[in-house]
Amino acid sequence: MTILVTGGAGFIGSNFVLDWLAQCDEPVLNLDKLTYAGNLENLASLQGDARHVFVQGDLGDRALVDALLAQHRPRAVLHFAAESHVDRSIHGPEDFIQTNIVGTFRLLEAVRAYWSALPEAEKTAFRFLHVSTDEVYGTLSKDDPPFAETKAYEPNSPYSASKAASDHLVRAWHHTYGLPVLTTNCSNNYGPYHFPEKLIPLMIVNALAGKSLPVYGDGLQVRDWLYVKDHCSAIRRVLEAGRLGETYNVGGWNEKPNIEIVHTVCALLDELRPKADGSSYKAQITHVQDRPGHDRRYAIDARKIQRELGWKPAETFETGIRKTVQWYLAHPEWVQHVQSGSYRDWVQKQYG
Ligand code: NAD
Ligand code: DAU
Repeated sequence: MTILVTGGAGFIGSNFVLDWLAQCDEPVLNLDKLTYAGNLENLASLQGDARHVFVQGDLGDRALVDALLAQHRPRAVLHFAAESHVDRSIHGPEDFIQTNIVGTFRLLEAVRAYWSALPEAEKTAFRFLHVSTDEVYGTLSKDDPPFAETKAYEPNSPYSASKAASDHLVRAWHHTYGLPVLTTNCSNNYGPYHFPEKLIPLMIVNALAGKSLPVYGDGLQVRDWLYVKDHCSAIRRVLEAGRLGETYNVGGWNEKPNIEIVHTVCALLDELRPKADGSSYKAQITHVQDRPGHDRRYAIDARKIQRELGWKPAETFETGIRKTVQWYLAHPEWVQHVQSGSYRDWVQKQYG
């Protein structure tokens, strides 16, 4: 038994691989292109561990994916790989179309060919789990109910439109070809190994470096935050017991305005790493130009996954954000390697 993970060197993918191998011995074949967001240092603790096989490659490379499927014969594919940053999608949508849409299409076709040829028992047991986002549902106003799985898709950014397209492809491959798929739509994650282009890690590393803390617009946009390990446990649970063809929304019931998040990070840093002059990190906050097309509010209704699969998050926002800030304080070299770009040398060092 083996699982194939795409994007397992990214933020959520690497947390998932580490969690998976901490809990069981089923090997992981990890296919990752190692874009700027892929960082094998996240998986340094698995060095020499035969249960983890890393392959650098593009999920859209059909010949490579065919060969990996034939050689490793996974019983499931967990598809994390994507271009994931909204701001980058606004500056340059091309990579998002290529990886999130074309790449997912090619992966689905490779998996369909592999799955179709499996013996009946393996075919029945096989799963393709697509990791998606709440952003496909669009934006909410203050009094709207949180996103349920039945909410119409209304993606607003090139990123969310590309993820919505990939969700539709996955759905169609189930309905048309019978591919045994599962889709999860999760809210904003935070935790260890989060690339410091996203709000929470950017605020932590900028604060410590004495730089400004750029809050878009009025900072009253609302996101629904989930500690990354809770997302990983939800994915494991959906893989184990999710109903075929279904989508499951994953969230932590933790709606917070961005400015409150930034204040919380500053307060934790004031406590854990006080500044020499006694001033608060809050003094570094600056309001900057808003993101074009910025979605005002996301909120997840996570009742289906709780009702059907008994999943609920283990962390509250208070416990998760404290662990996160502590992790960044304890790993200055990880931050430094990411900022200097030297994390990319890891591949050479590790794999020659
Ligand atoms: P990330 O940007 O940190 O990591 C993406 C990984 O995919 C990187 O390791 C990158 O090298 C790899 N990758 C990119 N293009 C590839 C390609 N063509 N072939 C192979 N590998 C490729 O992203 P993340 O934050 O870990 O998100 C993982 C998944 O979860 C994405 O599908 C994202 O849409 C979804 N998601 C993220 C969040 C969040 O808050 N970060 C929330 C919900 C859903
Ligand atoms: O909702 C799930 C999504 O969450 C995932 O699908 C995406 O992959 C992930 O990147 C994340 O998207 P967001 O755009 O919500 O995350 P980001 O961290 O970029 O921004 C969070 C909020 O903070 C958002 O309202 C924009 C704001 N922001 C962000 C940055 C980087 C700032 O105010 N200042 C900043 O510098």
